[in-house]
Amino acid sequence: MKHEVYQGDCLDVLKRIPSESVDLVYLDPPFFTQKVHRLGTRDRTREFQFPDTWSSTDEYSNFLYKRLQELHRVLRPSGSIFFHCDRNASHIARFLLDEVFGESMFRAEIIWYYRRWSASQKNLLPAHQNILFYSKTYLYKFNVYLTDYSPATNIEQILQKRKRDEFGKAIYSRDEQGEVIPNGLKKGVPLSDVWDIPFLNPKARERTGYPTQKPVLLLERVIELVTEKGDTVLDPFCGSGTTLVAAKLLERSSIGIDVSDEAIEITRGRLENPVKTQSHLLEVGRVAYRNVREDVLQQLTGLDLVPVQRNDGIDALLRVEHENGSIPIRVQRPGETLAEAASSLYRATRTKRISTMIVVSTQEELDLGLEIPLPPGVVIVDSTARAIEKVIQRLASEQQIQANESRLLAQV
Ligand SMILES: C[S@@+](CC[C@H](N)C(=O)[O-])C[C@H]1O[C@@H](n2cnc3c(N)ncnc32)[C@H](O)[C@@H]1O
Repeated sequence: MKHEVYQGDCLDVLKRIPSESVDLVYLDPPFFTQKVHRLGTRDRTREFQFPDTWSSTDEYSNFLYKRLQELHRVLRPSGSIFFHCDRNASHIARFLLDEVFGESMFRAEIIWYYRRWSASQKNLLPAHQNILFYSKTYLYKFNVYLTDYSPATNIEQILQKRKRDEFGKAIYSRDEQGEVIPNGLKKGVPLSDVWDIPFLNPKARERTGYPTQKPVLLLERVIELVTEKGDTVLDPFCGSGTTLVAAKLLERSSIGIDVSDEAIEITRGRLENPVKTQSHLLEVGRVAYRNVREDVLQQLTGLDLVPVQRNDGIDALLRVEHENGSIPIRVQRPGETLAEAASSLYRATRTKRISTMIVVSTQEELDLGLEIPLPPGVVIVDSTARAIEKVIQRLASEQQIQANESRLLAQV
């Protein structure tokens, strides 16, 4: 596989690339943000920047228009272009792409969605970017990409055969007895146009310090969607070289162009040692982060509470204000002593100015005849099952006493 990297204005470099020689163009040009993007390496030894300031919308549009014409020329008839932008330029890009590629070649607008935390402002928090997908002709390559079912999908929806009724509505097929017909396990749902891929976190191994660097995972998905092994991918605004790294990892050839010397230096370095940060979040799925176990929450049914995710000590916070703090709860786990449950809860709340905590006791404790050492503020309550067990044990022992008394009376 060949990977070529060129420094210069992409308009000049593109003119040297033969017509119909490229299978995919991905471009992530300056977004018309009207600022200079600056960032540095984690050890703060280097700072990188590129300007994204323009005198007018016309100047920005003209800049893009000339380059899009060249990009259209170099694409093969089976090729596609993915234009990455955000709300500052998506309307301009859509208009220009319609102009150069034709409105009928518009295939999709992908919303790249990610979580962000930010101070509140008098607006909605921007949490997505846009990728406009156009093909050069109708004969474009496209690989069907299946994803997992959502957790809300029920087993019938996955297994049973469907057909359309006379109104075109999807219904389950039924046999003569009216029983639904199984159809084998379906492989998944086609990928949608909303992509939930985490932003690179500041400590990600693949982070170079180059401003606006995109995750390799995002580029891999674009490349896999419309190319095959051995195809050529072109990025005319390659920045830190993410597209080329993804192409190399997926055994595609690549061409990268950037006007900045530093961008080219970083791209060359990354190509020598391509690194991809695995997203733990994607591997295990966001649902897995909801790690308050269902059985734990069931113990607390009926209470007005907020489940607490990703915390080893607290399962939920009761929605009551008590001495200016709320009341955290922990359900005792199987095999955990009450003292252990109480100390996990206490440790998790230590820095949170909380005076009262509740541990729900779920199992019988070994009676060692000792007082259980509890941290200050911890109150133990029995779970419903535990409370009922205690009643049953009490009834059983009362019955035993009565039986013993009757036996003694009979002996007298
Ligand atoms: C948004 S960044 C690309 C970031 C890249 N996708 C990454 O993952 O690192 C845009 C890049 O376009 C480059 N650029 C701006 N004008 C250019 C031009 N006329 N020709 C080539 N590159 C240009 C900038 O230097 C910058 O690196």
